[in-house]
Amino acid sequence: MKLEKYYAPEKARLIVEGREYELPILIGEEGEKAIDISKLRSNTGYITLDYGYINTGSCASAITYLDGDRGILNYRGYPIDDLAEKCTFVEVAYLLVHGSLPTVKQLKHFSGLLNKYALIHEDMVHFFDRFPQGSPPMSILSSMVNALSVFYPEMINDPLLQIDMMTARLISKVRTIAAFSYKKAMGHPLVYPRHDYSYCANFLNMMFHTSVAPYEVNPVVVDVLNKLLILHGDHEQNCSTSTVRLVGSAHVNLYASISAGISALWGPLHGGANQAVIEMLERIQHEGGNYRKYIEKAKDPNDPFRLVGFGHRVYKNHDPRSRIIKKACDDVLGALRITDPLLDLAKEIEEVALTDPYFIERRLYPNVDFYSGIIYKAIGIPKDMFTVMFALGRLPGWIAHWKEMWDDANWRIGRPRQIYVGPVTRPFVPMEERGE
Ligand code: SDX
Repeated sequence: MKLEKYYAPEKARLIVEGREYELPILIGEEGEKAIDISKLRSNTGYITLDYGYINTGSCASAITYLDGDRGILNYRGYPIDDLAEKCTFVEVAYLLVHGSLPTVKQLKHFSGLLNKYALIHEDMVHFFDRFPQGSPPMSILSSMVNALSVFYPEMINDPLLQIDMMTARLISKVRTIAAFSYKKAMGHPLVYPRHDYSYCANFLNMMFHTSVAPYEVNPVVVDVLNKLLILHGDHEQNCSTSTVRLVGSAHVNLYASISAGISALWGPLHGGANQAVIEMLERIQHEGGNYRKYIEKAKDPNDPFRLVGFGHRVYKNHDPRSRIIKKACDDVLGALRITDPLLDLAKEIEEVALTDPYFIERRLYPNVDFYSGIIYKAIGIPKDMFTVMFALGRLPGWIAHWKEMWDDANWRIGRPRQIYVGPVTRPFVPMEERGE
């Protein structure tokens, strides 16, 4: 990644202890501005402190651009609305990792690899039998993905040479692992991937086909699953992607880096929110539908309750993904002739919250997780697999960032600094002098 062209002629000036320092300024392709502090400590002895990295950029990236104020989200320059409307998930996965939309030939080759690598080693299938009944699917997924590095060690040697194979292997096998974990949880026989099904149709068939109730692939469901996976494809330096980069920066193999990203995504403040939204809506419905009580709870600084599916670190406007998913809810439930009172409840909550000064002042809008669970529920995905679906979608984004980091000559092992607030140096206290 050559950054020279992004350095601006003007400099930032910092005055510390009466001395003035100049700090370089970078301006990104979309006009974002950054102060380069890479020499701050060596020049001034100072570090910066920024809990949650709210103001801190960790890298330069060419994968995703999002503008939280204007509600813009582009993958490799293509607006998310176009991709969600006109592409399949496999096309977008290729775009995220390789940087361009695939040609017919490239897509055929990539799809062939996804088919070739769809199976997992049969010894791994027995791992499912050793997880206790009711094990959280995200725990199983993270463990199984880490285990892939044991079964496919060859890719650790020179990952960038094998990026096509690694990408296809992970994207295909993680789909199989997700479906197998569901079948195991249901106590049903495993359904293996088919060579004649598309990526999403294969997943749905592996999830829901049984010998007594053959699964009929519904193009409406395949289309909305493609859309959902695309919308979750990448989101620049979010918590789980930054985790993949940080773990990968120690030259850890791709599988272990992705396994760490899955663990980060599991959090209810991050990817776990889609499951938490449905649980919140079900709780409100169970209590008689008084959602206004919960909106007041969310506003109460002394109440830990938050309106899950609302708010975002970057979006201070509508999350463009949420709008697309909300419309897809109506389309899919209509096509499937499903009425879900939780969708009506979610819409009412959104309408009231968006007119409430608390949410307006804090610029809190529905995020990607607010409506996605409604669709997953409608197509039969169990609640405890909603975050697994998020991981399936985010996989190409994680891979793209891991690859970009490995490719980036500026990259070094991630090792933040700190301000120490513990005891200063003190004399040792022998056991006999430590009292009761
Ligand atoms: C994802 O980073 C990404 O890009 C993530 C993601 C991706 O694609 O990877 O977009 C996916 O993780 C979406 C977010 C899913 N999480 C949730 O829906 C959980 C509920 N949301 C919140 O916990 C919160 O909004 C976060 C975690 C999403 C963002 O937290 P921030 O940026 O640290 O914001 P904050 O906690 O500083 O909140 C600012 C103010 C606070 O009030 P004050 O102290 O100023 O009075 O807004 C309030 C917060 O209390 N607030 C909320 C709220 N979210 C923020 N109040 C009520 N309900 C909420 N949901």
